[in-house]
Amino acid sequence: MPWNRRHLLDLQSLTAGEISAVLDTAAHFKTVGERSIKKVPALRGKTVVNLFVEPSTRTRISFELAALRLSADVIQFSADASSLKKGESLKDTVRNLEALNADFIILRHSASGAPHFLARFAQAHIVNAGDGAHEHPTQGLLDVFTIRQEKGRVAGLNVTILGDILYSRVARSNIWALRKLGAHVTLCGPPTLVPRVFEKLGCRVTWDLESAIRDADVINLLRIQHERQRKTMFPSIGEYAGLFGLNHSRRHLVKPDALIMHPGPINRGVEIDNSFADGSQSVILDQVTNGLAVRMAVLFLINGGRKEEIAA
Ligand code: CP
Repeated sequence: MPWNRRHLLDLQSLTAGEISAVLDTAAHFKTVGERSIKKVPALRGKTVVNLFVEPSTRTRISFELAALRLSADVIQFSADASSLKKGESLKDTVRNLEALNADFIILRHSASGAPHFLARFAQAHIVNAGDGAHEHPTQGLLDVFTIRQEKGRVAGLNVTILGDILYSRVARSNIWALRKLGAHVTLCGPPTLVPRVFEKLGCRVTWDLESAIRDADVINLLRIQHERQRKTMFPSIGEYAGLFGLNHSRRHLVKPDALIMHPGPINRGVEIDNSFADGSQSVILDQVTNGLAVRMAVLFLINGGRKEEIAA
């Protein structure tokens, strides 16, 4: 189906068809990435600005590489070395970037809704690379892409998201994508971090780890997002790890073919131990690899590209 969106702000507003169009396009770009010449000319002459006002390793580098593989010019905006530090507003910053002919602004920001705010006036395409605890749409897309690649489908699978759900933009984007594609979603963690209000999004909420992981086809671990928590949400890291960490003592509870996922960064020994992070069921680094193809697909589709245009 045609993709007619100027921006990618969230997955809440995307249809299942639009999500599937991104996944299908990403599958094409994944094969492009396996060729000796990995570049295509789709974004030649376009300028992509990576405007990251929060730290990032995977998303920032992945967007940079995606834009380069599409032959765009890429500008890395360093917030600490910018005039944001002198009090310039985000709006004025983006207006100045547009005056320099930025065609795409990839925004990571600690404020939920910052990309939606920019989209109200920006001429450039806005892509949300994570806004506060709200959404991280390309992470949600790369996660469902990875599940579909490994399991052959998303519909009907039992997907458990385990950890700090309340403060997680990754959880919210995963929930929207997984529910729209027909997966059964279970959320688990301490009651303070997994409130029952998430049931309104069509998820099962449980605070019992065994019941959450026993039938799971996919277990997606999330770290504790200390940077967003404004008060103590559980007694100690040690207690959290003991009650909700995926470690070798829980191996017998995990289906032998369950996928182990994590968006990164990993806190080893807290939400996941080495035996799961580096084990044969882990697809954590595949997620990173797939993120490149997904972000190429997002930039390509927003630019008006059609899947049929990608050379076979
Ligand atoms: N998954 C993710 O958003 O990682 P980064 O913060 O390193 O981009």
